Amino acid sequence: MKIAFVGAGRLAQTLAAAFHRTEIEVVAVFNRSRPAAESLATMAGACKVCETPQQAADMADLVFITVSDDAIGTVVRQVNWRQDQCVVHCSGASEVSVLEPAAVQGAAVGGFHPLQIFSDPTIALPRVAGSSVAIEAEGSLELELNRLAAAVGYRVIKLPPGARGRYHAATNYAASFMLSLLREACDLWNSFGVSDQEALAALLPLTRGTLDAATAKGLAGAMAGPISRGDASVVALHLRELAELGEDTVDFYRSVSMRQLRLARDKGHLDNAVLERLDKTLRES
Ligand SMILES: NC(=O)c1ccc[n+]([C@@H]2O[C@H](COP(=O)([O-])OP(=O)(O)OC[C@H]3O[C@@H](n4cnc5c(N)ncnc54)[C@H](OP(=O)(O)O)[C@@H]3O)[C@@H](O)[C@H]2O)c1
Repeated sequence: MKIAFVGAGRLAQTLAAAFHRTEIEVVAVFNRSRPAAESLATMAGACKVCETPQQAADMADLVFITVSDDAIGTVVRQVNWRQDQCVVHCSGASEVSVLEPAAVQGAAVGGFHPLQIFSDPTIALPRVAGSSVAIEAEGSLELELNRLAAAVGYRVIKLPPGARGRYHAATNYAASFMLSLLREACDLWNSFGVSDQEALAALLPLTRGTLDAATAKGLAGAMAGPISRGDASVVALHLRELAELGEDTVDFYRSVSMRQLRLARDKGHLDNAVLERLDKTLRES
């Protein structure tokens, strides 16, 4: 399959380079501003930089619409699609139905959402192999996208129609929400004079260690801390101290701790009396 990209931002440049590395043919690119298209063309082994989305689409069997989410529908409507073409977007949140203007002209449409952060193509490229991609497609397009995913080393999550809202909300917990947890930790340390820089230098290795443990032992198996030990008195101490910083701080700690208690239950190593004491401490403080 010959591939074209319409949109040459951070994700498109990374994917194009990953495809090129595995000898998948990237033939054309269009981007609203030319320098990004030229960067992508270089990373994809000197593919053609086109003047219009139509010109890029005409050269390809499979077209990746990799513009920002709000522009996908507009860009798709700018092209006359062929019946033998495939068109995909790479958004996690936008429905595949945004590609409907291509589908009504007979093109096969789908979604190909890589589960990784693309802030810089040179950093993102080595992370392609071993990451995952959520694919929403049917028939021969699904087979083709699975083949592309396997070629660059992506694991595939099959995304059924209608699951996108929940699917995409969940990815926040594994990515940006983790930053909010670290923000909360830094705020608490700021309150007794430790700077963000010092806090992150100390806390990020803890985060990495936890992720390594989760990789090796699963979520419940990797748990550490007072809830995993059944130390209700330590949880009570936390709640008393945090109360001095305001209700919002206590509520956040309580919500996350209740979820942690669920993990402790899953692990099955604490007896019911201890689990109940933890639950009571969290609810009543
Ligand atoms: N970045 C990530 O971590 C990530 C992860 C997974 C999925 N995605 C998805 O990948 C897709 C691309 O994201 P990205 O992060 O690569 O975006 P990006 O780096 O911000 O690039 C946005 C691209 O969209 C183009 N664009 C914006 N508005 C446009 C318009 N009105 N008409 C035509 N082109 C327009 C930009 O063109 P100009 O260069 O001319 O401005 C640029 O090529 C999105 O659907 C996003 O949800 C991103």
